[in-house]
Amino acid sequence: MRIAIFGASGTTGQLLTERCLAAGYGVTALLRTPETFPLKASVRTLQGSIFDPTAIADTLEGSDAVLSALGARSLRKEDILERAIPLITAAMQGQGPQRIIALGSAGALPTSLDKQPAWRRWIVQHLVYTTVLKYPIASQIAQYATLSASPLDWTMPMPPMLTNTPARGTYRIDPEALPRNGSRISRADVADFMIAQLTTSQWSRRGVYLSW
Ligand SMILES: NC(=O)c1ccc[n+]([C@@H]2O[C@H](COP(=O)([O-])OP(=O)(O)OC[C@H]3O[C@@H](n4cnc5c(N)ncnc54)[C@H](OP(=O)(O)O)[C@@H]3O)[C@@H](O)[C@H]2O)c1
Repeated sequence: MRIAIFGASGTTGQLLTERCLAAGYGVTALLRTPETFPLKASVRTLQGSIFDPTAIADTLEGSDAVLSALGARSLRKEDILERAIPLITAAMQGQGPQRIIALGSAGALPTSLDKQPAWRRWIVQHLVYTTVLKYPIASQIAQYATLSASPLDWTMPMPPMLTNTPARGTYRIDPEALPRNGSRISRADVADFMIAQLTTSQWSRRGVYLSW
């Protein structure tokens, strides 16, 4: 199996790349700066922009599935997902791979906090999602809308805050809302979940919340 990875150079993206290689999958990665990518020797890298439909089509060529760990490098309005996800999903709808697992975030849906205690729901909604994380959350809302409007076989994992700690191997999975008091999960656990989705359609065509 060959996997096209968008955002392979990011913190989660590198974990995804390592796991694909460990599973024996070939990887194609579209990168802004392939020369600095630590895994470049083991990966088919393409230099280009994630906003360039030709570069996206070249990345998809010969791939069986797509992983995305794209996201803005800042909390400012960058519209990375708003611009890139429609291009990627459009390119996939031709002869491209039909399966995409795109890393999202809690907050992408208005029901995300439904299982939280009232005090926590108020704080996250009013002091986090609409202030400091205003633009990242807007991007995740847009990503969810794009994926759900596409005919593709998509899954959008929706974790809360990501940590760089080791995988625990056990975490809560909930298709309805962020698990009660769930506030963190490691990128390593999220990457493991995303890799597992390459060989199952259990969470096909839906978002799914992950949290310790
Ligand atoms: N941080 C959290 O706590 C948290 C929580 C829940 C969900 N998430 C979501 O998880 C995702 C990945 O997070 P992360 O921390 O692993 O990401 P990250 O380390 O910041 O990596 C972001 C990736 O997106 C790429 N990218 C950013 N801007 C780009 C641009 N203009 N053109 C091309 N590529 C661009 C980066 O490429 P370069 O290497 O070239 O910059 C990199 O590969 C994000 O979508 C984020 O919203 C994060």
